[in-house]
Amino acid sequence: MAKPKRRYACTECGSVTHRWQGQCVDCSAWNTLVEEASETVFTAKHSLAGGGRQIVFEALNAPTAPLARRSTGIAEFDRALGGGIVPGSAVLMGGEPGIGKSTLLLQAAATMAKAGGLTIYISGEEAAGQVRLRADRLGLADAPLKLASATSVRDILTTLAAGPPPAMVVIDSIQTMHSDMIEGAPGTVSQVRASAFELIRFAKENNVALVLVGHVTKDGSIAGPRVLEHMVDVVMSFEGERSHQYRILRALKNRFGAVDEIGVFAMAGQGLTEVSNPSMLFLTGRDEPVAGSAVFPALEGTRPVLVEIQALIVRLQSGATPRRAVVGWDSGRLAMLLAVLEARCGLSFSSAEVYLNVAGGYRLTDPAADLAVAAALVSALADKPLPLRSVWFGEVSLAGEVRPVAHAGLRLKEAAKLGFDQACGPPDDNRDPGLATGQLRLAAMSTLASLVDRVMASA
Ligand code: TYD
Ligand code: MG
Repeated sequence: MAKPKRRYACTECGSVTHRWQGQCVDCSAWNTLVEEASETVFTAKHSLAGGGRQIVFEALNAPTAPLARRSTGIAEFDRALGGGIVPGSAVLMGGEPGIGKSTLLLQAAATMAKAGGLTIYISGEEAAGQVRLRADRLGLADAPLKLASATSVRDILTTLAAGPPPAMVVIDSIQTMHSDMIEGAPGTVSQVRASAFELIRFAKENNVALVLVGHVTKDGSIAGPRVLEHMVDVVMSFEGERSHQYRILRALKNRFGAVDEIGVFAMAGQGLTEVSNPSMLFLTGRDEPVAGSAVFPALEGTRPVLVEIQALIVRLQSGATPRRAVVGWDSGRLAMLLAVLEARCGLSFSSAEVYLNVAGGYRLTDPAADLAVAAALVSALADKPLPLRSVWFGEVSLAGEVRPVAHAGLRLKEAAKLGFDQACGPPDDNRDPGLATGQLRLAAMSTLASLVDRVMASA
């Protein structure tokens, strides 16, 4: 019989090789390859095109019951999930340590339990007493939530199978779970995969909504095997700067809904509170015009959020290599914008340090922020403040043109609602002229050069 091949999997990225190496060839992490329990070698002796059962095909338009969603009792959580949690689905909740995953899920589980659903919270990280203390602090100690501290998947599934099927089960976290069917310490790729597989199978068979908490690595991806993300129906990420109060819950993958809706929370003394109108959230107190500050009307799904972009430029006397530091935006994109400003507008940043910050711990990914970033940079460089009540949006091309962006109307509406009186953006002939409501005036600019002229000319 052929000797079963050894398999080594990387604990960082899940990549599998058949030879042990000091460094993972895929993610370049050191000392992360561990041997996986060998799987049975499947040797198909015969052709597979026979001997099976016939599959019955179905029509696409066959009648199906609409998705039964359950409210988690937290409207912002429901919104990020696409309207509630789906029974029989598995949700993976990722996020940095201390961001509030356990708090959010304890609040959701307790609220669901109060509403009458059988809800189970299993913590593999904290003792039951610790969780109880937190529930006490959150004012949820009287919720009929079933709480346990356990790490054995066999014990958990035995217990769950013995009682009536619960509405929701929270497993905090999947990296602490241990399946005795295969060898290896909790948290290794094969353990995480096997534990998740068993738990998800139970959830599907019993129509239970399952929430798995997953740790994230330094670079923000969910630790352990990438396969975990493929196994579950919904991948959510809980983000924010720990030093700031605000948290954003985002769906990265959702088999039952759109991935562009977010939930916004604020972490307070009594746990997470919902922020249902986040558009002003990330604007700092703005009374005096300051050079290097521009407001960008961002969109989160269908919700407008106004964020302040701050730039600081420090001229260097020595010939040292100037620093470029970015918080909340892509550093590659900043390098590109600086290059476009140099090449197309004749500005020079080469001997200056450039710092860019998105206020409030917000993270921007929308390319429509280009123009606002450029405005903040030019304003900082020229030391001329932008008009206080102005917003800036538009994508910048390498040729220095300002391009139209999605949902300009929504952005303008929100800016008008919040009392801004000037919007600078790309010219767009298709825009509904009635959208710019109130006193909001629209200044169209088709090139970065006209932005520079405008900023330089302002008093
Ligand atoms: P936690 O839910 O334990 O984070 P995670 O499970 O993602 O690791 O949240 C931990 C942080 O939240 C902790 O640093 C304290 C803070 N916190 C509050 O500020 N207020 C509260 O009411 C609670 C419960 C936690
Ligand atoms: Mg936790």
